[in-house]
Parts: sequence; C-alpha cells; structure tokens
Amino acid sequence: MIDNVAEYMKSVDSSAEYIRTVLNNEVVPEICIVLGSGLAPLASMCEDVVSIPYTDIPGFPVSTVPGHEGRLIIGTLEGKKVFMMSGRFHYYEGYDTSICTLYVRVMAKLGVKTLVLTNAAGGILEDMEPADLMAISDHLSFNCESPLRGANLDEFGVRFPDMSCVYDREYLSILEECANELGINLHSGIYVYTKGPQYETPAEIQVYKSMGAGAVGMSTVPEAIVAAHCGIKVAAVSCVTNLAAGISPNPLSHEEVMVNAAKASDNSCNLVKLFISKI
Ligand code: HPA
Repeated sequence: MIDNVAEYMKSVDSSAEYIRTVLNNEVVPEICIVLGSGLAPLASMCEDVVSIPYTDIPGFPVSTVPGHEGRLIIGTLEGKKVFMMSGRFHYYEGYDTSICTLYVRVMAKLGVKTLVLTNAAGGILEDMEPADLMAISDHLSFNCESPLRGANLDEFGVRFPDMSCVYDREYLSILEECANELGINLHSGIYVYTKGPQYETPAEIQVYKSMGAGAVGMSTVPEAIVAAHCGIKVAAVSCVTNLAAGISPNPLSHEEVMVNAAKASDNSCNLVKLFISKI
C-alpha cells in the first residue's frame, strides 16, 4: 500500500528523470515490453540497444529472481522504439504490489501508451499442452492486494477505475492475427492471479477452473491494474510452462517451468515481434 505518497512519487519521478537523462534527446519509446520466462532472446533482437541495470535507476526496486537479471533495455524492434523490462518484481519476493508496479507508473510518466506483458503460467484449459501460448482476455484478481490501495494518485487516474476492458480488444485481435500468420496455436483465456511462491493445490485449481480461469500465475495482474488506472493499453500473453496442479501428471517444479519456457521461446518471441510490427 502507498502510505507515503510524497516518497512514492519521489521514486517514480527520480526513476523517470534518470531514464530521460540516459535517453538524452532521443525519442522516448511509447511501448514497454515485459520479458517473462522465455522472452529474454527478444532483447538481442533489438537494435541500437542501451541497457540500464535496475540498480542504476534511482528509486527503482531490484529484482531477486534467478533468471530475471534486472535491466531496462531501450532499443528498436521492428523499426519501433521500445522499452524492455528484463526482470520484473513479484509480490512473493516480498515487495508490496505498489512497488511491483512502480515501473508501470514510471513508464506512464515517460509517455508510454502500450504495455506488453508476458509471463509463465500453469495451464487450466482442457486442450492445453506445455509450451502452448495463451492471449489473456481478462483476469481474476481476488487474490491480489490492489496496487491502488491507499491514497489515490490523481495524476495517473481516478479513485475507482473501470476494469471492464483491461486487455485491449484490438490488441487481442492483432495477437490472434499474428498467431494465424505464424502458424501458432494461440489459446485465449482468463488469467487467475495467485500470490505464490508456492504453486496451487489441485483443489484450488478446480475452483479456479470452475470460475472460468484458463491459466494461473504469480505476476501480470498488479501491473495490468495499474496500467488500466493510468490509461495505458495492455496486451498480455502467457506461456503455458506446465499443466496446472492436479491436471499435470507430474509434481510441479521450477525446472519444468524453465524447460517449457525455453521450448516456447521461438514462438513467444516471434509472436511479440510480429505484434510490435503491427501496432
Ligand atoms: N502456477 C502459478 N504460477 C506459475 C505456474 C503455475 O502452475 N507455472 C508457472 N508459473
């Protein structure tokens, strides 16, 4: 929860100011892509790259997850200037949701209009297989402490923001079009947020399934809520790195998640790249 607005805004402002200084007089990107598991190679597909360790950005939190190195990349992808977040912040690491989402507000300050969120998730839909992809059409946030709790930051958005269209409809149809062009079997479904870090129980998955969830994961929702609050358009894709607990014949493990994220990596990167070329 944001209990000290002045301090929080000082972090947002000093991060944005530092990034603006690094950019010097260059065009500020209007797109930010969050590189979830398997998306790391997208950074090397960028041209004219500037890479800033999170530790250099005043006011920015520091990522603690192995495999998420913690760098803000600025570059050109498919002829478009983009920010890429290599490493994000999760509630299970010990951060408050207001801190997990601080970067989204920094992006809003810098003038970003589009947020592309990617993540690893457990598959719940009947016809899912590990290494499949799912476009997120909506989310279930009841497990998530709202990143908007506490004083409203009026400069970003209203106290009671509408959440009826968090995931931009046009972006969803562009994602579908991209998947068709690439011959990728892209599912579409509802992402249910869990706090983690433990995976779910089979009973929990059955409840989420009965609520209509298509995939489950420990990120994305706080960020999507803040983006919606700020008026940033969101596209989001889950990589099904495992079948969810009780659906999978195996016990869940981080190793399986990493293996299938790597298997899906080409599809994930190609989908996001083509999507960027079309928006
Ligand atoms: N549950 C929650 N988060 C996840 C999963 C899962 O099954 N797989 C990858 N991230």
